[in-house]
Amino acid sequence: MINKKKEKIIDTEKLQNENKKIHICNGKSCSIAGTQEILKDWLKEDFKDEEIGYYPCFGKCDTNFALFYDGKAYSAPSAKSLKKIINK
Ligand code: FES
Repeated sequence: MINKKKEKIIDTEKLQNENKKIHICNGKSCSIAGTQEILKDWLKEDFKDEEIGYYPCFGKCDTNFALFYDGKAYSAPSAKSLKKIINK
């Protein structure tokens, strides 16, 4: 899948094979910003630990808080914005 804004190629086959419902970015920019653990805490309200996967970079490096859900890459810098994404 290609994220048109950033032209980031995401290996959706790999995502599907991991059998996860949602993926958090564990790329360099998000790792340095330390946003994965914050996202994971917020996601625990709606997903089990085993439903949360990781993937290296979704092309949202400038905003961090990157995740991939339901075929799209997002940046969710607040719990409220994350809820909006997963409740679409
Ligand atoms: S490192 Fe997280 S979106 Fe690029």
